[in-house]
Amino acid sequence: MSGAGIPCQSDNCKNGKPPSRLECPTCQKLGIQGSFFCDQDCFKANWVRPWHFSRIVTSPLNRPQKTHKIIHSVVSASKAHNKDFNEPGIEGAYIPDWDISFTGKLRPVYPLSPKRAVPDHIPRPDYAERRDGRPVTEERAWGQPPRQLSKEEQDKMRKVCRLAREVLDIAASNVRPGITTDEIDAIVHEETIKRDSYPSPLNYRQFPKSVCTSINEVICHGIPDQRRLREGDIINIDVSLYYQGYHADLNETYPVGKVDDDAWRVMRAARKSLFEAIKQCKPGALFRDIGKTIEPVARDHGCSVVRTYTGHGVNDLFHTAPNIPHYAKNKAVGTMKPGMCFTIEPMINLGGNWGEVHWPDNWTATTTDGKLSAQFEETLLITEDGVEILTKGQPRKDLGEE
Ligand code: MF3
Ligand code: CO
Repeated sequence: MSGAGIPCQSDNCKNGKPPSRLECPTCQKLGIQGSFFCDQDCFKANWVRPWHFSRIVTSPLNRPQKTHKIIHSVVSASKAHNKDFNEPGIEGAYIPDWDISFTGKLRPVYPLSPKRAVPDHIPRPDYAERRDGRPVTEERAWGQPPRQLSKEEQDKMRKVCRLAREVLDIAASNVRPGITTDEIDAIVHEETIKRDSYPSPLNYRQFPKSVCTSINEVICHGIPDQRRLREGDIINIDVSLYYQGYHADLNETYPVGKVDDDAWRVMRAARKSLFEAIKQCKPGALFRDIGKTIEPVARDHGCSVVRTYTGHGVNDLFHTAPNIPHYAKNKAVGTMKPGMCFTIEPMINLGGNWGEVHWPDNWTATTTDGKLSAQFEETLLITEDGVEILTKGQPRKDLGEE
């Protein structure tokens, strides 16, 4: 594909975003068009986590043109069924008129609620204050090796992780048919600020809400909206807090009422693969071996491992080194050392399709075939002789844990 005419996609291009020809090789492999940068610096400054994927996929330049007819019939079909999707009791709720074909049955239900406020006395990360939501300190640290935290910093991580676990458990106790994901967002927001913490997702690269809520075929980064949970759904709640300068990051997937065998299977696969991987973490273990543990568990359950989104270092930065792929035969660099904090957060899809399709909201990643996806995440600390699960919660009895 030719890059002539596509301006450099780097947010912080120092060269005035000239027409660019240096293509992101991963985007190219994934068939994502338009991922061009003017030089290595601009490319590197947009790598680490593939945020540039979603932006580029959904830019009007790259909307698939050939499916135009199909798209129009899908849009009118969804309008015709608006009654089905319309949320009872929510005045003015509607399904946005997006020029895409959805891969499954889930629909966004708009409008999003207004941005929630965080009291002034709560310390916040740099991106919270920026219109563009760019995590500037995070970007400056790109390319640096994983940091080993001091004892004092480790205690700060313990503290914020315990708070984040409390918030997730409260959010989870509210999961029931009829609640909207926006109401879950309100609960997470309130419980977070009650703990003098900032909800890390809020305004991170302009994410509009305080938590990610990912239902059914949504792999990750679902935006809380007016859709009500229904019996039979599964929902992932991904909570991140910033307390006194340090971030915690964890998520779990929950059934809404009674769910079918497929739902249990994908949840078990995600949960089991995470905990098998955690068991291997200790000083000297290689980050690249984590995926070697996760992928066979997924396969045994008839599932596949999402490749685009990875685990990550987490400390005074929300997303930092190391980068931790969850699939086998990856080329991740680095060795675990005492004092390192990072997440493992496998996203597992039912069936063999590990790819994803993004909604034009710039965030929501769904399976390509509309099948279910589940995820679990913990924040970990490497100790002298093993690993501490800083966000550890109660065993999931519903998933067969004691
Ligand atoms: N919590 C997610 C993770 O596990 C990241 C969410 S970024 C957001 O890394 F902006 F979507 F919130
Ligand atoms: Co994470």
